[in-house]
Amino acid sequence: MSDSVRLFRNVPLKSRNTFGVPAFAPLLAEVDDASVLPDVLASANFRDHPPLVIGGGSNLLFVGDPQVPLLALTGNRVTVVAEVHDAAILRADAGTTWHALVMESLALGLCGLENLALIPGTVGAAPIQNIGAYGVEVGEFIHRVEAFAPATGEWHYLSATDCAFAYRDSLFKRESGRFIITAVEFALPRNFSPRLSYAGISAQLASAGVSNPTAQDVAAAVVAIRRSKLPDPTLIGNAGSFFKNPILPAAQASALQDANPSMPTFATGSDATRKVSAAWLIDACGWKGRRNADAGVSESHALVLVNHGAASGLELYELAREIAGSVRKRFGVALEPEPRLIGAIW
Ligand code: FAD
Ligand code: EPU
Repeated sequence: MSDSVRLFRNVPLKSRNTFGVPAFAPLLAEVDDASVLPDVLASANFRDHPPLVIGGGSNLLFVGDPQVPLLALTGNRVTVVAEVHDAAILRADAGTTWHALVMESLALGLCGLENLALIPGTVGAAPIQNIGAYGVEVGEFIHRVEAFAPATGEWHYLSATDCAFAYRDSLFKRESGRFIITAVEFALPRNFSPRLSYAGISAQLASAGVSNPTAQDVAAAVVAIRRSKLPDPTLIGNAGSFFKNPILPAAQASALQDANPSMPTFATGSDATRKVSAAWLIDACGWKGRRNADAGVSESHALVLVNHGAASGLELYELAREIAGSVRKRFGVALEPEPRLIGAIW
């Protein structure tokens, strides 16, 4: 096998998931150069077992051990591949750290990704749930996604339309396992159009004394807000928001808001639906800061489940079910997990 492939057996995964829960993988292949993927996947270890791809492990919960080999793409080259009018096409390998890409794009004078600063994980995972924060979703800036399909042995170049991006959703999430994303190309403008409407950004800029922000200023403001709100996974295990914000028929959202005027709701792009705040629903049920042994709900954000140290994936899963049950009982709203559950179904 090529020099760019490293194979490991019986691999502990505690340090490879940001919840920090224990799990073991039967086999892990780290692949630097994605062009060797067809050979790796045709080899005896993978032929009958399509792999589970793992990036930074920041949107996964190991409820049980994975039963298939793991694949980690570790290439991290970032290159400007084309200049188009007032934009550039920036290509990044799947293994590039997401925040490093954001910072590098800004250093190159390219805009668009600043509101997505400090999201953990890798470039290859970003299209999976169409990562979003502070009024921006990554799909808006994706030119095309390079991916390998293990079942057919074919390479694909998917446009943003092909990817069918939606809120925390994409073709890749709906057809999990069909594609291994090996690189992403972003179309990034050189002219900066600030996106400051999400609650808190303007106030953060003002408190930093910035009145005419650059893209770097916006990234710094987003980083400061995120640090103040979200627990740091290097200090306390978590996977960010554990549930998606539910999208409800407009009439149901409106009835819920009439009964609960302080509950925030958000536009979805369609008059027929409205997104409601899962954090508010969970907080209203009294969960913030509570814990069952070491599986708990963050004291700083009700949507974030945390591992106080020795929680198992199963304990976090059981806590999540309890939370969702209480929200359904009190508000009639079904919560869906955001992270990929390994070894359990919702
Ligand atoms: P992993 O957790 O390793 O994998 C996630 C899923 O993607 C899995 O199904 C995996 O199989 C699949 N996958 C990963 N790489 C590939 C690939 N190359 N090809 C095919 N499939 C692949 N998310 C947001 O959208 N917005 C936020 O604001 C946000 N804030 C967060 C804050 C914190 C503190 C944490 C811990 C998480 C947050 N997240 C947020 C979630 C997470 O950071 C993102 O979902 C991120 O994209 C996951 O990247 P990863 O590399 O860690 O993916
Ligand atoms: N709120 C509460 N209690 C809390 C926290 C928040 O009631 O403990 C209410 C507040 O009214 C607040 C509102 O919820 O105004 C929204 O909170 P926040 O701005 O933190 O956003 P969110 O809807 O909880 C979403 C994303 C985050 C993303 C932020 C910023 C989802 C599931 N989560 O959180 O993404 O960073 O917006 O855009 O859409 C992630 O996906 O992992 C993630 C962290």
